[in-house]
Amino acid sequence: MTVVLASETAADADDLSVWPASTTPLPDGGLAVGGVSLADVAARFDTPAYVLDEGEVRSRCRAYRAVFPDADVLYAAKAFLSRTMVRWIGEEGLGLDVCSAGELELAVTSGFPPDRIVLHGNAKSPHDIGTALRLGVGRIVIDSPSEIARLAAAVGPHGRQKVMVRVVPGVSAGGHEKIRTGTDGQKFGLSLTDGTATHAIARLLTQPQLTLVGLHCHIGSQITAVKPYLAALRRMVGLMARIRDTHGLVLPELDMGGGHGIAYRPGEPALNLTALARGLRTELAASCAAAALPVPRLILEPGRAVAGPAGVALYRVLAVKTTGERVFVAVDGGMSDNPRPALYGVRYAPRLVGRHSTAGTRTATVVGRHCEAGDILASDVGLPGDIRPGDLLAVPVAGAYQLSMASGYNLVGRPPVVAVDGGTARLLVRRETLDDLRGRDVGE
Ligand code: LLP
Repeated sequence: MTVVLASETAADADDLSVWPASTTPLPDGGLAVGGVSLADVAARFDTPAYVLDEGEVRSRCRAYRAVFPDADVLYAAKAFLSRTMVRWIGEEGLGLDVCSAGELELAVTSGFPPDRIVLHGNAKSPHDIGTALRLGVGRIVIDSPSEIARLAAAVGPHGRQKVMVRVVPGVSAGGHEKIRTGTDGQKFGLSLTDGTATHAIARLLTQPQLTLVGLHCHIGSQITAVKPYLAALRRMVGLMARIRDTHGLVLPELDMGGGHGIAYRPGEPALNLTALARGLRTELAASCAAAALPVPRLILEPGRAVAGPAGVALYRVLAVKTTGERVFVAVDGGMSDNPRPALYGVRYAPRLVGRHSTAGTRTATVVGRHCEAGDILASDVGLPGDIRPGDLLAVPVAGAYQLSMASGYNLVGRPPVVAVDGGTARLLVRRETLDDLRGRDVGE
């Protein structure tokens, strides 16, 4: 066991830099988010639970609009979606990026204007396409050559649908191999390098039902540098110029996707949005001037950077065990509510909340309750040496790709989402119960 003096980690313990801006320490050693004590949330809604700070979501949306006043900012629904989230996004003036009939239908039936929605997907089902056309989605992003004829047929001879083409610009970026999508050799998009994109565009332009309004690229996720975006943008503008030269078509829109990286632990880098905005604006103006193209309308699709830092996952400690050199702190959630450490090796910074501890810090590994040794939420983190069953642990930066990627493993039920704001907590998504699971199980 590694024992570290409390004084050495005091700075870490006070570091709330990755927590929502509203987070405040409470006299009892706990924390309040959105003016609500996390211990009170746990007492009222039980654990595990996700807490979502409404003010943080809204201020992140506003930051995007302030930094990119001339662009369309579409929130990537895959990060986290619920009916209330749809409303917040709409009220803050963002559009939506969806990638299934489910996300699309939830958004539209919650009142989101369909013309402000873009549909993505490398393998859109007939149901996805049918739903998009029925609801009147703003743009559909073509991701493979075979989709062109399929979509044109679904639109029908008298219809018209705005489309974009997803291009793979040949720029590598992203926080993990599994979320890098900017180069060939992965499943998304049409290659700029081998000419697939150019061929698909030529084919697309022969379909009168489909109106090509722009190009799209999404080079990866959890990107913390501006440079790869600028490299991709130059290539995308180059392709726009070739389309103008070959087909006489000047495309009015350029969608640069999302992928904006955030810090999960204090001290980690995050993408600087102001620098991104400045870089994109300058590069777009320069590339377009060099190609004698009018500057297209820029579109961005952040998901993680809007929802991630607004969320906190709350767990109750169920067991503490020392095995050999390691201390395991087992909580009442795990890989079913957060598969990200197992999938991408992401590191989190859990923290004891709800009581004050004067014990020195020791290194522990926070594990889940699932039947796998790989069910690890945070390895080798500093926690108070007296951590014990019944304690409450909170993990910040839990708002993106957690509930949306949660599974039904071991039938524990997916956690609820509790919104906090101005001292009030309210349920957005209730806990999944055994009755919910039983209701789907219709066999004898
Ligand atoms: N646009 C497109 C077309 C995308 O595929 C994605 C994410 C986004 C926008 C939003 O990217 P963001 O700004 O959230 O990075 N499950 C992984 C992330 C997968 C991202 C998939 N596509 C994770 O937990 O890190």
